[in-house]
Amino acid sequence: MAPRRAALRLMDAILRRGDPLDVAMHAAAQGLTGADRAFAVAIASETLRWMVDIDALIDGATTQILPDDVKSRAVLRIALAQLLVLKSPGHAVVSTALPLVDGGPRRLVHAILSRAQQDEWQLPERATLPLPAAERWAEQWDLTTVEAAEAGWSGPPPIDLSFAAEPDADEWPEAVSLAPRHRRLPRGQAVEAMPGYAEGGWWVQDLAASLPARLLGAGQGRVVLDLCAAPGGKTMQLAAAGWKVIAVDSSAKRLERLDANMRRTGLSAEIVRGDVRSWEPTRSVDAILLDAPCSATGIFRRHPDVLHRIEPRQIAEMAALQAELLARAARWVKPDGMLVYATCSLEREEGEDQVRAFLDRHAGWTVEAPRAGELPETIAPDSEGFVRTLPGLLADDGGLDGFFVARLRAPAG
Ligand SMILES: C[S@@+](CC[C@H](N)C(=O)[O-])C[C@H]1O[C@@H](n2cnc3c(N)ncnc32)[C@H](O)[C@@H]1O
Repeated sequence: MAPRRAALRLMDAILRRGDPLDVAMHAAAQGLTGADRAFAVAIASETLRWMVDIDALIDGATTQILPDDVKSRAVLRIALAQLLVLKSPGHAVVSTALPLVDGGPRRLVHAILSRAQQDEWQLPERATLPLPAAERWAEQWDLTTVEAAEAGWSGPPPIDLSFAAEPDADEWPEAVSLAPRHRRLPRGQAVEAMPGYAEGGWWVQDLAASLPARLLGAGQGRVVLDLCAAPGGKTMQLAAAGWKVIAVDSSAKRLERLDANMRRTGLSAEIVRGDVRSWEPTRSVDAILLDAPCSATGIFRRHPDVLHRIEPRQIAEMAALQAELLARAARWVKPDGMLVYATCSLEREEGEDQVRAFLDRHAGWTVEAPRAGELPETIAPDSEGFVRTLPGLLADDGGLDGFFVARLRAPAG
């Protein structure tokens, strides 16, 4: 019962309070063992991923539509996710669901779960996106992108590893390499148990997330400010590429993870806790990587809560914060230096529109499009020189997270 109760609490925190799944987990999963906690997260994640389709099944089986926020719908959602996605045995699903209805219509819940088993309910091949996200992306991109996003989040994404140095060709025989110092592995293995974890020669990082640091090239001892750095995926890349990294982030907790990552990989960076809205460096630097806080709608495959939580208001708030951080960062780059701006968002407001507005306000700054060989072969910059990874890219190889990256060159002075 405990993981199911925790899954219900998680769903409530995400859908009603708008908490991110990883934040909600701390409160909802207190006192659970590791395995129970993982099961609670799996139930909540799969419920969120398939919720539109699960709701359609529920609504097709009731004469009166159950309100969105009643307990019986919440219990049915998590029970059907267990039955239809996680393939838990029917008797276990029913016997653990009914006590959760708490004085609600148990008979109705029982009847629907029995019918789901008798009629062998199936989910569609692709998990339908929540309507606001589907509409937004159809308008900003196109219907093909919406379909690709649905295909992309219907199954577990692969695991991408970034390496400090190119591994030997025969070292990861089961992996595919889509870029230098990159290997892609099928999902389903525990990261800590994979070869070389303790030695720290690699870290988990979606290939799309590795693009911003790739655009800064080799550091050769120059200084880079890694703004909004934690938990440090890009810090490790920059340090491994020979940059002298100053990693800044406002979250002490996330900086602890950055520190642990640097220790495991044996890479070094100066770690600074600071809010980029008020903190500033003592002198200007050769390069800046600003991996700005954002709506995170581009990482919806791994975080299916995102598309149920994020609304236009939050996207606008994030865009305003990004504009502020970008304007401050631009003041700290040396003449002719580089500023790479990135977000893991599929919203133009946090990507293309943001950088166009920056260029309008900052005379002399230019976009420096990636050159041949700087990006993986299958990824090309758009006509403005921006890198935009949309769902559908590399679909046959396991897809990519949605990212936006722009490399900006400061005026020569
Ligand atoms: C997209 S995440 C960074 C991911 C990181 N660059 C990596 O590659 O692992 C955004 C980060 O911005 C930090 N952040 C948010 N607002 C900030 C601010 N005003 N000043 C500094 N850091 C901030 C958050 O704590 C979070 O760690």
